[in-house]
Amino acid sequence: MADYPTKRLRRLRYNPLVRDMVRETYLNKNDLIYPLFVMHGTNIKNEIRSMPGVYQMSIDVLVKECMEVESLGIPAVILFGLPEHKDEVGSEAYAEHGIIQEAIRAIKASCKKLLVITDVCLCEYTSHGHCGVLDGENILNDETVSLLAKEAISHAQAGADIIAPSDMMDGRIGAIRKALDYKGFTHIPIMSYAVKYASGFYGPFRDAADSAPAFGDRRSHQMDVANSNEAMREAESDIEEGADMIMVKPAGAYLDIIHRVKEKFQMPTAAYQVSGEYAMIKAAGKMGWIDEERVMIESLIGIKRAGADMILTYFAKEVAKYLDKQK
Ligand code: PBG
Repeated sequence: MADYPTKRLRRLRYNPLVRDMVRETYLNKNDLIYPLFVMHGTNIKNEIRSMPGVYQMSIDVLVKECMEVESLGIPAVILFGLPEHKDEVGSEAYAEHGIIQEAIRAIKASCKKLLVITDVCLCEYTSHGHCGVLDGENILNDETVSLLAKEAISHAQAGADIIAPSDMMDGRIGAIRKALDYKGFTHIPIMSYAVKYASGFYGPFRDAADSAPAFGDRRSHQMDVANSNEAMREAESDIEEGADMIMVKPAGAYLDIIHRVKEKFQMPTAAYQVSGEYAMIKAAGKMGWIDEERVMIESLIGIKRAGADMILTYFAKEVAKYLDKQK
């Protein structure tokens, strides 16, 4: 191998055209999945205090939003629901006419070229804000898994294209796959939140989805932020149980995990740039402390460079507009 002064790495950086020619990583609209929050009512569009530009929307407003998302060329949305009533067992999560089920039908009636992904979890629907059924302060794994399978089926029946379980109960991917197949939904893929950490970066989401736990935290089922080998075991078991795509969440502080998961399993891999990641960039941008657009793109390129094929991000619309501007 040649050495300096024969080798000069700067040679490829002087001319912008050469730089473009040797660029290794690109953001594409096809990478983007846009998270949306839906609630009962009409003509509602409440901005979330800690997430400027992100709203809780009633179904009529949501459908218009989805039409815009579709026309921007973003291929997919993921839905989170705020129910009318919460109870101990999260009944609205699997109700035929629950908020998500109705939202799916409405979007599907108006947007023919938009994939609807649904988040499957109970935390938005339980009165205590936990991700499953409780016995005292303990979340019962297997009882919860049966309800999650019911929730997944109700989403598929309403027309969901992809099911994304985010609860982190053991065995839920296998149970959901079996339930979907039994009901004839053999063609519906599962995008598993396979590696989900017990993260402080979810703070703003819990305002948005009104899903903060009434007591305790999620450390009995979400992963310890310090663990990496365990992430491999989580991903492996979800793949064995039938996950078609796997997700790492959050993204920015877990680029090593995205990289390891992609290298080892070579699966379609998603990464979720979560609410807190979005909020930090927005806040610093608003203060004039960073160049918001530049940092937005840099944060997402970093996630792709680590190995993500798809990115769930609240910036999806802004990125699509940015990419149009680049042409
Ligand atoms: C659970 C769920 C959460 C997020 C996505 N799905 C919250 C949690 O686990 O507490 C967080 C996403 C974000 O912070 O943007 N239904």
